[in-house]
Amino acid sequence: MLIVPSILNADNLRLAEGISQAVKAGIRRFHIDIMDGHFVSNLSYGPQLVSDFKKEFPKIEAEVHLMSNNLDVMIPAFVEAGCDLLEFHYEAATPDQVGKWLTYLKEHNVKAGLALNPDTDLEVLNDYADRLDQLLLMTVFPGFGGQKFIPESPARIAAARYLLSVACPKHVPLEVDGGINGDTAGLAKNAGAEIFVAGSYIFGKGSIAGQVNRLNELLEE
Ligand code: DX5
Ligand code: ZN
Repeated sequence: MLIVPSILNADNLRLAEGISQAVKAGIRRFHIDIMDGHFVSNLSYGPQLVSDFKKEFPKIEAEVHLMSNNLDVMIPAFVEAGCDLLEFHYEAATPDQVGKWLTYLKEHNVKAGLALNPDTDLEVLNDYADRLDQLLLMTVFPGFGGQKFIPESPARIAAARYLLSVACPKHVPLEVDGGINGDTAGLAKNAGAEIFVAGSYIFGKGSIAGQVNRLNELLEE
């Protein structure tokens, strides 16, 4: 089980401090939400944040969750900035673009992920499963931190887990993102999730290390 904090709701003016606290508690990867004000109605960071992150924390993985349909500009920019993983939205791409960008990421030694909105047909996995290093299943509609975990998500996680195992012989790790907290992490885990993005649970409730430890304990149960 891997906890990947989303920095979206962290204190931007104390970001390095917050990240360091999570690293001290054992975190080895952070989730960086990129929102373009178009694919989702919110704006967040640009590539500079990713290169600053890698300069400050070279051994820690930067996972970019790209919420933009401007793939031609955004994907090369974030790869250039040094991200270790990049997951873009299936809904933001045409079918031939999905294949093209998965290949591009592989060629640039960046782990490739596909993100699916809560209402996207899981059958699309049949076409891409064997090319994914990771699948990101959204458990809220993307755009904002602090939303409520969609209650139908566990059934969807289980269905995706099954589809992946049938579609592809290699194991594809399944990540969940949105509304993950002390109540929902266990539900997602029992349904087959292995990577847990948590934003407001980790950065919005007092001690960052305390929240990481709490979630870790819960996921170990
Ligand atoms: C939503 C983002 C999530 C979000 C997670 O669009 O992709 O990563 O910031 O935040 P919480 O954990 O607060 O839902
Ligand atoms: Zn995200």
